[in-house]
Amino acid sequence: MATRRLGIIMHGVTGRIGTNQHLVNSVLAIAKEGGLPLANGDRLLPDPILVGRNPEKLAALARAHGVARWTTDLDAALADPADELFFDSAFTAGRPALAMRAIEAGKHIYLEKPVAPTQAEAMAMLAAAEARGRKHGVVQDKLFLPGLTKLRLLREQGFFGRLLSVRIDFGWWVFDGEQVPAQRSSWNYRQADGGGLVLDMFPHWRYIVDGLFGRPTAVTCQLRTAQPQRRDERGQPYQVDVEDEARALLDLECGAALEINASWADRVRRDDLLTITVQGTQGSAVAGLHRCVAQALGTTPKPGWNVDVPVAQDLYAQWAPVPDVVVLKNSYRMAWEAFLRHLAEDGPNTTSLLAAARGLQLVEACHASHTERRWIDMPVLTAG
Ligand SMILES: NC(=O)c1ccc[n+]([C@@H]2O[C@H](COP(=O)([O-])OP(=O)(O)OC[C@H]3O[C@@H](n4cnc5c(N)ncnc54)[C@H](O)[C@@H]3O)[C@@H](O)[C@H]2O)c1
Repeated sequence: MATRRLGIIMHGVTGRIGTNQHLVNSVLAIAKEGGLPLANGDRLLPDPILVGRNPEKLAALARAHGVARWTTDLDAALADPADELFFDSAFTAGRPALAMRAIEAGKHIYLEKPVAPTQAEAMAMLAAAEARGRKHGVVQDKLFLPGLTKLRLLREQGFFGRLLSVRIDFGWWVFDGEQVPAQRSSWNYRQADGGGLVLDMFPHWRYIVDGLFGRPTAVTCQLRTAQPQRRDERGQPYQVDVEDEARALLDLECGAALEINASWADRVRRDDLLTITVQGTQGSAVAGLHRCVAQALGTTPKPGWNVDVPVAQDLYAQWAPVPDVVVLKNSYRMAWEAFLRHLAEDGPNTTSLLAAARGLQLVEACHASHTERRWIDMPVLTAG
């Protein structure tokens, strides 16, 4: 029963998702519990070093959470063989160059999504990591959410029968910064910084679709920019040069149709900010981030269509909640634990850079479909 230290270079964790989810809720939470218990009884104890550009922010973050090590010198951090894993959650466009430097320095890599702006860059990172025998992973946190876990359990139990269709509804209203400050950073709305709703969100949809419903084979997509002018963090106006709405239709290998409605200009009236509606011959379900409701064939009511009177049935009341039957931790932490097990015990890697490249294949197919106004096929993507 030994404790094995794992030095982790954490880059970009002064950002929103890096601080809250990766540093505090994942790496430090695991460390506070004495490390991740491994199959042989050992514990893997994460020891982070925070890396970024702003010394004041880094020092304050380290102090606030009792982290002993921080630096603005990424080269020095990468040169230290005692830190084996590189993690990045900074802005998207900078990630491929950083990841390549880390691989060159002999580090394993675990990266926020999207791992790169293009599929070709992701494939190049995959090849580089494989060539050096380094382990690689991309954050796939959404698969570990309670709502999606319930969907996965229903699917594995055969609840849906033959899968007919899936609908992903995602989004909320993002203020433009005129009177109310925007609740997303301005880089999200600039192409040069890796912005755009498709690049941001469709990598999630791809691993969710692959993981829960099977491979998508083709896509057609329409993009829109609902709010073309915004004000940034300093109140300066800027032009948005990316889409903030995307509507896509995918063919799945299993024969089902999958629809995605994603928008940052959406005043929400549904169960959650993300809902996934699954229709099958034997049953249907609607999952949000946490909750999930289901309706089986045997309890499916028989609605009648009568435009002369308001609908008589309470349509929401006809769905039964799917109970919480498994204990889950924070979804980012569960994703970290899965990757750390892959790193330390050679457990399976379901979150490889190849999976990340598949996400970017969908991103590029959506852009091509919109530009060329046609369906785009997505061939099977392999490492070779
Ligand atoms: N897994 C998820 O669901 C999820 C959710 C949100 C964000 N993300 C991803 O995480 C990343 C960060 O998103 P966020 O919402 O935390 O953004 P953020 O704007 O809050 O943070 C971005 C971080 O990058 C740093 N940064 C910005 N420009 C930089 C530059 N030129 N050089 C070096 N560092 C720079 C910032 O200082 C900050 O630390 C993005 O790639 C995003 O796609 C993933």
